[in-house]
Amino acid sequence: MDDAADKPSTTDLSLPALPGHHATRRLAIPRYLEQVYWWAYVHPRAVETFEREWLVNTILFGNYARLRDLALAELGEPVSGRTLQVACVYGNLTPRLLQRLAPEARLDVLDILPVQLSNLAKKLPKADPRVHLLQGNSSAIAAEDASYEQVLMFFLLHEQPESVRRATLAEALRVLKPGGKLVIVDYHRPVACHPLRPLMRLIFEKLEPFAIDLWHHELDEFLPPETPALAQTLSQQSVFGGLYQIRVLTRTGECTNSGRSADNGGHVPAPHRSLAPPAARPGFLGRPAAHGLAPVRPTGGRGGVAAQDLAPGD
Ligand SMILES: C[S@@+](CC[C@H](N)C(=O)[O-])C[C@H]1O[C@@H](n2cnc3c(N)ncnc32)[C@H](O)[C@@H]1O
Repeated sequence: MDDAADKPSTTDLSLPALPGHHATRRLAIPRYLEQVYWWAYVHPRAVETFEREWLVNTILFGNYARLRDLALAELGEPVSGRTLQVACVYGNLTPRLLQRLAPEARLDVLDILPVQLSNLAKKLPKADPRVHLLQGNSSAIAAEDASYEQVLMFFLLHEQPESVRRATLAEALRVLKPGGKLVIVDYHRPVACHPLRPLMRLIFEKLEPFAIDLWHHELDEFLPPETPALAQTLSQQSVFGGLYQIRVLTRTGECTNSGRSADNGGHVPAPHRSLAPPAARPGFLGRPAAHGLAPVRPTGGRGGVAAQDLAPGD
C-alpha cells in the first residue's frame, strides 16, 4: 500500500486555484471506482456524458428535483456553520446548497476524483471564499472530530462496497458536531408491487452491484456499533414507492430536534434500531470497516464486477 493510500489526506482544491491545477499529492482511486464505476465518474468522457440534468433526472425516474429539495430542506435555510458534502453530485444540488449558505458559513465538498471536483468548480460561482473543494476519501476524512454542523451524502453509499460504506458512515458521524445533522439520500427497497423493481434489480446486477445491499438492509445495519450512544435517527422518509430514502441522523449530546421532517407524505420518525450482527445475515459480507484504501491495481475487464470480487479496503 502506498503512502497516499494508508493515511487520511485532504488536498484543498478551492475554487480560485482549480482550473488547470492538480492536487499536489495524488490520492489512490478506490478500486471499486476504477472497476465498477469507471463509466460514470472516472473515464474522461464520464463527466461530459452525465453532467446533464435531464439525464440525471431520468436515472432517478423524474425524482431528482424532489430528492434534492427534500435533502436541502433537511439542512434548513439559511444553512449556517460548517457543512460537509461528501462526494460531488451531477446536477445542481451543490449550486442550490450554496444559494442557501449563510454569509459566514462554510461549505466543504470532498471527493476522491479531481475530475469530479473540477467539474463541480465549473458549476459554482468563481472565488466564493465560503466554498472549499477537497480531494479526499470518504472512508478516512481528514477532519477533526466534531467539526461540522451538517454532513450531506447524496447517492453515495449505494456505490460503495460494504466495508467502505461502513467506514464512510463512521467518518460522517465522527466529524459531526453534537447536535449536528447527517442527511443521507439514497436507494431503498421499494414496495413489493413497485413496477420498477425488476428494472432496478437488473440495473443493480449489471451496473451497480453494491446497491442491492440497500434493498436487503436498512442503513442502521451499516452504522458503527456504538451508534446508539453516538447518534440517533431524527427522521426517515420513503420516496417514490420506497425506491428512495432520506434518513436524517443527529449526533446526540446537544440536540433538541424532536424528529421533524419535510412533509412529503412518506415521513416516518424512527427511533434508532440496534444493529443485527452481520454474521447472522445470510449473504451479507459483514466485513469490518476499513479506513484507507488499497492502491488501484490495473485491471483487464471493466464491466460486470460483482460486489464480492472486491476485497476489504476497496
Ligand atoms: C455522490 S456519488 C453519486 C452521485 C449520483 N450518482 C449523482 O451524481 O447524482 C458520486 C461521487 O462519489 C465519489 N466517490 C465515490 N467514492 C468515494 C470515496 N470513497 N471518497 C470520496 N468520494 C467518493 C465519486 O468520485 C463521484 O464523484
